[in-house]
Amino acid sequence: MSMKAVEIAEKVYWVGANDYSCRSFHGYYTAHGVTYNSYLVAGDEPVLIDGVKKEFTAEQLARISSVVPPESVKHIICNHSEFDHSGSIPVLTGISGAKVHALPAGIKQLTAMYGPIDGAPVASGKPYSVGGENFTTYATPMVHWPDNAVTMYRDILFSNDAFGQHYASAHVFDTHNDMRSVTAEAKKYYANIVMPYAAQAAKALESIKALNPAIIAPSHGVVLTRFKDEILSLYERLTSGTKEDKAVVVFDSMWGHTAELAKETGETLKSRFSAVEYFDLRVDPLSDAVTETADCALLAIGSPTHYLTVLPKIAAFFNELKSLKPSVPEYMAFGSYGWGGGAVKEINETMNALGYRHSETFADVTRVF
Ligand code: FEO
Repeated sequence: MSMKAVEIAEKVYWVGANDYSCRSFHGYYTAHGVTYNSYLVAGDEPVLIDGVKKEFTAEQLARISSVVPPESVKHIICNHSEFDHSGSIPVLTGISGAKVHALPAGIKQLTAMYGPIDGAPVASGKPYSVGGENFTTYATPMVHWPDNAVTMYRDILFSNDAFGQHYASAHVFDTHNDMRSVTAEAKKYYANIVMPYAAQAAKALESIKALNPAIIAPSHGVVLTRFKDEILSLYERLTSGTKEDKAVVVFDSMWGHTAELAKETGETLKSRFSAVEYFDLRVDPLSDAVTETADCALLAIGSPTHYLTVLPKIAAFFNELKSLKPSVPEYMAFGSYGWGGGAVKEINETMNALGYRHSETFADVTRVF
């Protein structure tokens, strides 16, 4: 395989992998593909930061080989043990006998996943020297696993999942990519991966801002340089729970009657909200609908009645609300039925059980066909 490393700063190289064809990241729709970023600090003794998904090990090895022989990589810093960042580590340690530097939580998780490793625990916030270079790893627990961490080297923050975007590109830097798309993917990533732990993410964000990195090099997506403050601001807005003047209408429809109600509902909602966004789950991915619940002021949910309950995709949407926990201020329901209702009642019961508050302004709409 002929793949080259990309120098992102003096002696620091991107040695990751692109999957342009991936459209599902454990169920999350990835319209722009996925990257598994890994970085090589090529000092006196090379240090690798993070692995890649196992299936992309050959690509990572090819890129490392364009800078140093893989067998010379005696140190790997692992910010997070999830399979997309650790899959290649057993192969790499097998080649070079590398020591794996990680927080104790990371070492524990890696050992559980791959068996005994030559692990060197690092303490959060305490500088350490590896391969003649100085690093500091900071715990960012539950952003989004217990072992997540970020590592600072010079003025570069290797942020792992934080500030990631599922966005595969031949160009590594933000400056060479469409930042509207990159920012939209960063928001989608936050909503679908980080949102359940918004409070922990807000805390991590404050610590990271204090580090004042010049470059943020995440483990997914483009390396942030000129536009890093835009992504930091996005996280600030999302973690703080700031809402847009926006309603989101999420619905499924059997014969088109609930889809008609969705349009009518949007017409009503536009009297109060400057933006109304529609997600028709017959054609739109759940992960896109969930993304816009991260900052909407009202959520309208519609389903026809299907044997006294909602259609399966609306039930799946409820499951997303249950797991990803968007803080939506108010909701309403709508739906059509033929010979027996029940969907609107079910929407209300489920939303109440999940802790959401019904709108005092907008009433539910139920219609026979
Ligand atoms: Fe990209 Fe939590 O792994």
